[in-house]
Amino acid sequence: MDVAIAGGGLIGLASALELAGRGLEVTVVDAGDPGQASWAAAGILGPQSEAHEPSPLVELCTKSYELYPQFVQKLQADVGFRQNGTLHLAFTEAEVEALEQRLTWQTQSGFRVEQRKHDGALKALSFPDEGQVDNRKLVQALRAACERAKVKFEKRALTSLEELPARIKVLCAGSWSAKLAKLPVAPQKGQILLLDERAPAQVIFGGGGYAVPRNGRTLIGATSEDAGFDATPTAEGREQLLRIAARLGFAGNLLDHWAGLRPVTPDGLPLLGRLPNGTIVAAGHYRNGVLLTPMTGRVVAALVLGEAPPVDLLPFDPSRR
Ligand code: GLY
Repeated sequence: MDVAIAGGGLIGLASALELAGRGLEVTVVDAGDPGQASWAAAGILGPQSEAHEPSPLVELCTKSYELYPQFVQKLQADVGFRQNGTLHLAFTEAEVEALEQRLTWQTQSGFRVEQRKHDGALKALSFPDEGQVDNRKLVQALRAACERAKVKFEKRALTSLEELPARIKVLCAGSWSAKLAKLPVAPQKGQILLLDERAPAQVIFGGGGYAVPRNGRTLIGATSEDAGFDATPTAEGREQLLRIAARLGFAGNLLDHWAGLRPVTPDGLPLLGRLPNGTIVAAGHYRNGVLLTPMTGRVVAALVLGEAPPVDLLPFDPSRR
């Protein structure tokens, strides 16, 4: 076998598929720990929504989003990919000011931003180019595509990268990556609710969170908590999310409630590159793992094959301090 990947979330699966497509034998090892971000996420594809200023991360997110149509087409499955924009609402003067700042820098950076009217909101902005994907369907479709491409899967916990069954090792284990290598990545808990409520037409941000249409119902997210590897939903989290839902005009019965662990780094940028011992790292995607999946798969393939990476990796060097 040529390559072994630690981590079977979206990043590991996309990397495996890219490498298998280039003719390599790939094995993915994953324990199936609860709280995996790929499964828990809301699937927002928001290079503008998650950005607060111009940065190398915004460029990386934008380039990855550009790859999405082609990426999902290759999967031969409906993964709920939509490019129907996102809506941002401000209900307080401070939120209005934040939206105005976004309008200024994003317009100057060449992004499309449109002003809207929205009942009950002091200000509304539309980002018409953003979108969403059903991240759970995407996990399943990627896994199926990997299986068709003869990627092997092993369900087991790793205590060391030495246990990976190949010479070329790739670490894509999200928050758990720090348990396998000395890396500045840590879990940040995010809780989400599923409400039995009419789905909004598009993703809506506001009131300290967001609402996402999901199979005719509505996801409400998300908390940001430092709780270690504890991925248990809490009553406090539920109350916080119900307040966000009310602010955004959603009620409805609670159908489900879960939490995931975002892999966060000190500077908020992912870790993409090679460690001094040769291990390839693709981790720390924080709030943008679903969005960064297509580009990260390509980056990992280029690193494994010794090709020029498709983007400048210097800002994402996993050894940076
Ligand atoms: N990208 C949405 C979140 O992390 O909550």
